[in-house]
Amino acid sequence: MNSRLSLERIKDLRTAAAQGVEVVLVAETGSTNADLLAGVAHFVGPRLLLAETQTAGKGRAGRVWHSEPGATLTFSLAWKFHLPTHALLGLPLAVGVAIAEALAQFDVDAKLKWPNDVLLDGKKLAGVLIETAVVKGAPVDQVWAVIGIGINLAVPEHLAARIERPVAAAPSLQADRSRVVAALLNSLAQAAISFQAQGFAAFRARWNALHAYGGQQVSIVDGGRVLHAGLAGGVDDSGRLLLDTPTGPIAVVAGDVSLRARED
Ligand code: BTN
Repeated sequence: MNSRLSLERIKDLRTAAAQGVEVVLVAETGSTNADLLAGVAHFVGPRLLLAETQTAGKGRAGRVWHSEPGATLTFSLAWKFHLPTHALLGLPLAVGVAIAEALAQFDVDAKLKWPNDVLLDGKKLAGVLIETAVVKGAPVDQVWAVIGIGINLAVPEHLAARIERPVAAAPSLQADRSRVVAALLNSLAQAAISFQAQGFAAFRARWNALHAYGGQQVSIVDGGRVLHAGLAGGVDDSGRLLLDTPTGPIAVVAGDVSLRARED
């Protein structure tokens, strides 16, 4: 059963870390990421934009993110970091930890696929797209991260047909979507505060505990081309994936590469 999203309820359920976050709910927009990116220069503090429907949802690597009113949660959180842009490299992984830990409160046992997919039963449950914007200012420039998250709650047949690959669903989360959004917001705000203070190092052990492919043979793929293959270890303090390859250990930097389990 699908529940109504309530702005008031989400606001009421905010914990201390998220109290300063302005929460905005719209029925429809093109992309919550695009909207926040266009507005960051005017924001005084962090902002969460939640949309019932997106008509031009953006995925990673230029892909389209398909969603369905009520069946998906689509939202973005704009957060200002006092860090240089390059220091945000591990942020997508920290966000994965924040999502998985929030979903665990609802008995959804999510795992993480490097660099930034959230899986349930080995299939993609949620995707993360982080885009950054630098606003020129004095005495220093402001670095904003727009953290976009899409979560499949249910996958009706026509949505599955559009996505064209197996995806997971978590129908139990439909019962009280406002509470799920609030839990995600609280977890993300706390993660952003920790990331600002300690970087990805604060998340490394938690990420490794949630790793879906630890100890498995994997390939790192870029646009269909295999860049590396080997035994997946954990991630290091900057979020690089440690891989034992036939020619020795390497650390792979997250970018628009993706990981595939190897069948052989
Ligand atoms: C991925 O490709 O895995 C990332 C998908 C991210 C989708 C979310 S939905 C909310 C936010 N707005 C967008 O346009 N994209 C992100």
